[in-house]
Amino acid sequence: MFDPDKMRRLFEARTPGYSLPQGLYTDADAFAFDIEAIWRRSWLLAATEADLPRPGSWLSTSVAATPVILLRDREGVVRAFHNSCRHRGAQICAEGKGKSNRLVCPYHKWTYELSGELVSATRMDEGFDTADFPLSPIRCEVLEGVIYLALSDEVEDFTPFREAFAPLLAPHGLSQAKLAYEATITEKGNWKLVMENARECYHCATGHPELSRSFPVETRAYFNYGDDPRVVEFNARMERLGLPVGPVEGDWWQALRFPLNEGFVSMSMDGQPSVNKAMTPSGSFDIGSLRWALEPNTFCHAVGDYTVIFLCEPVGPQETRVTVKWLVHADAVEGVDYDPRALSHLWDTTNLQDRDLVELNQRGVNAAGYRPGPYSSEAEVLVLRFIDWYCAKAVDFLGGGRKARAPLKAVAR
Ligand code: FES
Ligand SMILES: [Fe+2]
Repeated sequence: MFDPDKMRRLFEARTPGYSLPQGLYTDADAFAFDIEAIWRRSWLLAATEADLPRPGSWLSTSVAATPVILLRDREGVVRAFHNSCRHRGAQICAEGKGKSNRLVCPYHKWTYELSGELVSATRMDEGFDTADFPLSPIRCEVLEGVIYLALSDEVEDFTPFREAFAPLLAPHGLSQAKLAYEATITEKGNWKLVMENARECYHCATGHPELSRSFPVETRAYFNYGDDPRVVEFNARMERLGLPVGPVEGDWWQALRFPLNEGFVSMSMDGQPSVNKAMTPSGSFDIGSLRWALEPNTFCHAVGDYTVIFLCEPVGPQETRVTVKWLVHADAVEGVDYDPRALSHLWDTTNLQDRDLVELNQRGVNAAGYRPGPYSSEAEVLVLRFIDWYCAKAVDFLGGGRKARAPLKAVAR
């Protein structure tokens, strides 16, 4: 629960173009508000099809502070349900992954089909009809192998994102990809500090020496290479390979394909592919990176040899869980075509560096002397966009109407 008047006062105290008032990064009220007003009213990247490799595969996780089950049914369709038994609400699947023909609640053994239908409940009263108690479904969209959930109907229309973005991602074959490695990091920071950090590369040159070798941290604006002839050549080459570059964007998402630094074919420690099998039909490893990001919980990069998915989940006012997944070609064999440690080394290193920066940020924001400070409209434009989107959505929820968003023009990763 949160106090709406307190939340209104916090948003009224905000100076546009500046970091948020302290309470929005620290308070339990603001956390409860964010879950209700933002997370349960947004599309959230929850998993990938590679997490559910076979009919009967399930994944139990939390999305917007709500336990959910994602599964692949007998027909291969991806479905999502609330992880709460229709008898007395027990959690049906423990957090993690598994495979089963049916879902059985551990408490009194009510048993559900993979379609969510209740098929068995013993000792219930006469007149009890199992058809009245299916698992509660959750809105679910699968877009080119990536699964997005919405916990309410009060979310943006998914269709424009699907239509604009699918052609860019389709060649990467993620609906047939394999999950090669996964990491979870708990960060002692508010989720907005995690996402602010993920929306800029102002800190990359000094904060990520390894990433900076391959990643164009110095480009101005939103991957704006100016009149760099490399970009003209890159775009023409991508067109020949059948790989659209975009950019495409909406209020709550952006995507584009951009070239890596000269001499770097992949985002890896040495700039070379970490996987022997290229992911796109072009067969080329040298295809830059397709970056896509959705407010409020994700950014992803698809390079020639792998795709990395970064998603976050708020755990508490000052705690966020970050999950990172590395997808590779379905035929790539561990130990033959890739070494999971080499594959994950660069982003593991980068994400741990970011965890330290987020925690540093949170400690300073908690200080009595914290005052909101100005963002750079060049180096932090995607942070500005994120914060403007967040505040507009919050004010809208509180009954204050929407505001225009800032134009797109700076680098982020
Ligand atoms: S709560 Fe699930 S069977 Fe009773
Ligand atoms: Fe970073």
